[in-house]
Amino acid sequence: MRNIALVTGADKGIGLQICRQLAQRGYIVILGTRDLANGRQAAASLADIGGDVRPCLIDLTRPETFTDVASLIEADYGRLDALINNAGIALDWEYQADSVPMELIRKTFDVNFFGMVHLTQLLLPLIRRSPAGRIVNQSSRLGSLTLHSTRGTDMDSLKAFAYDTSKTAINSFTVHLAYALRDTPIKVNSAHPGVIRTDINATVVRNANSATLLDTTEGARTAVELATLGVDGPTGGFFHRGERLPW
Ligand SMILES: NC(=O)c1ccc[n+]([C@@H]2O[C@H](COP(=O)([O-])OP(=O)(O)OC[C@H]3O[C@@H](n4cnc5c(N)ncnc54)[C@H](OP(=O)(O)O)[C@@H]3O)[C@@H](O)[C@H]2O)c1
Repeated sequence: MRNIALVTGADKGIGLQICRQLAQRGYIVILGTRDLANGRQAAASLADIGGDVRPCLIDLTRPETFTDVASLIEADYGRLDALINNAGIALDWEYQADSVPMELIRKTFDVNFFGMVHLTQLLLPLIRRSPAGRIVNQSSRLGSLTLHSTRGTDMDSLKAFAYDTSKTAINSFTVHLAYALRDTPIKVNSAHPGVIRTDINATVVRNANSATLLDTTEGARTAVELATLGVDGPTGGFFHRGERLPW
């Protein structure tokens, strides 16, 4: 029986690489994209694997796309084994909490948090049918309140309030959902991918730190590890390359 995985925000960046690595492990991969033409191109870029990668419309600001993908998975596969909530936006690198416009906070939360929670809830009946469901929420070190409240670290120069708090909220969802599902085989974890060379940090992080940026192969690693955890693996945690991060 082949595993079925759904990755959001997968037409480029870390999400596309997660699709590649899951397809290489034999998963049937649903490549979530908010633009089907981009999604088809992205799936075609994985043709060298010879895997089964299927682009599907998922726009986290359009709940009708959630019900469409749930119906498609129900009809064609009957269950979902791994959901990787990878899609995300960062709109406020140049602001801090004293000045970030409310509109940017709302837009950020619509995609990074509300859309992600809603999609997950809609897909849960399908994940419950998996013998070993896995949910991975793509977070960030920037969501860690412990790290942010420690002075004198690299976090002092990275204080994008809307983005950071959306990732803190994602971490809270991980903890609460893992608790709600504690009597099931489903494991729910947050991932920090590393500081990766992608479009999301094309300005601030790249300018400040370009020498230390890693590629998407490395960026996909933690999410793929958490999506493919064995039965003894953790749930309700926050990880980077197998190490626990502080909340
Ligand atoms: N890169 C890093 O250093 C880093 C560090 C920590 C955490 N992360 C997290 O890793 C995840 C992937 O980011 P990335 O670095 O790969 O950035 P990216 O290359 O900018 O990819 C972001 C993806 O999210 C999609 N997306 C944006 N808005 C969406 C919406 N409304 N509905 C559905 N999908 C939407 C984008 O689609 P379009 O192509 O249509 O724009 C794209 O596929 C994000 O959650 C990010 O916060 C990244």
